[in-house]
Amino acid sequence: MKDIHGRTIDYLRISLTDRCNFRCIYCMPEEGVCQLSHDDILRIEEIARVVRVAAGLGVRSVRLTGGEPLVRKGVADLVREIARTPGIENVSMTTNGVLLPKMADELKRAGLSRVNISLDTLDPVQFRQITRRGELRQTLDGIEAALAAGFDPVKVNAVVVRSLDQDCLAFARMSVDRPLHVRFIEYMPVGESSGGCGCGWGSEDVVPSEELFEAINEHARAEGMDGLVPAGDDRPLGWGPARYFEFPGAQGTVGFISPLSRHFCGECNRVRLTADGKLRPCLFSDDEYDVRAALRGQMGADVDGAVRAVFAAALGAKPDEHHDKVGTERGMSQIGG
Ligand code: GTP
Ligand code: 5AD
Ligand code: SF4
Repeated sequence: MKDIHGRTIDYLRISLTDRCNFRCIYCMPEEGVCQLSHDDILRIEEIARVVRVAAGLGVRSVRLTGGEPLVRKGVADLVREIARTPGIENVSMTTNGVLLPKMADELKRAGLSRVNISLDTLDPVQFRQITRRGELRQTLDGIEAALAAGFDPVKVNAVVVRSLDQDCLAFARMSVDRPLHVRFIEYMPVGESSGGCGCGWGSEDVVPSEELFEAINEHARAEGMDGLVPAGDDRPLGWGPARYFEFPGAQGTVGFISPLSRHFCGECNRVRLTADGKLRPCLFSDDEYDVRAALRGQMGADVDGAVRAVFAAALGAKPDEHHDKVGTERGMSQIGG
């Protein structure tokens, strides 16, 4: 499936819910988001149907996100259904990890290929401040549960924010003795233009990956370690925009995702489906296409044909790049990152 700019689109990110068991200060307000009603959100069978149609159009990789995807009832059944969809090669998930100790084995058996776990700090007090209701231990236990269940690769996503002053070398070091792939993500001030995320962070909090890379290497060398080198070809690089490095001899890798300092729009391979069934051609654009209406017969009796038409419309409108415009009407918890 090609978009209007000739990019191959083979990756579908699906937000299963806007709900979450955390309330990360950069993602949603203390009281939670104004939740979508039961009827608004796509049913599990509807999501599976979209995936079947998308696979027929050339989608090969599906990532389940949220909110927190694991709070959605029926998630393991959905994973099973997606994993056995002809054409789908890979079904992965981005989660805060809290429910993995309970669910990792079941998800693995259902056919989940990979998990990315969000963890922004290794300081228990700061973790509590950021998530408002989580304990660091929960997410660390989630990471262990993912490794124990045999997921490979297990990636850890840390959003880097200047005013948080995170210990990024400690994060990077997690990749040395464990097969963990630690990725540093440039904070995206989504919603800043419409009043900000409410957490007080703004564009001055974006730490360019280049700067972080230098700082990690400097600290590593000061501790007698070798610096980061580009990751070998044998490493699991994934389907996303990260660039990977490794400490010589390390079990895992260190990746950098740089949506602001190094635009990867030219290589963008994805579309997004929101929990309420809207197809979004770009994370940063408010442009949406109504798959739910197609699924519910409001665009004609040929439902699969109508869903295909919505994909065609969305791909025909996918922007060439985001031109540094990051203001959106919906927050990250509704889009799924
Ligand atoms: P894999 O590489 O396949 O593991 O997936 P991924 O890195 O695409 O997925 P993940 O959900 O872990 O995303 C990591 C970070 O990259 C999140 O902060 C996302 O918001 C960001 N990201 C993913 N896709 C895009 C994109 O299309 N545009 C921008 N600007 N950021 C993205
Ligand atoms: N900037 C960068 N990354 C973000 N995420 C959520 N909000 C932001 C933001 N404003 C990350 C989460 C998760 C992934 C899906 O998106 O931490 O790892
Ligand atoms: Fe939940 Fe992730 Fe948002 Fe935190 S960033 S509130 S864990 S969806």
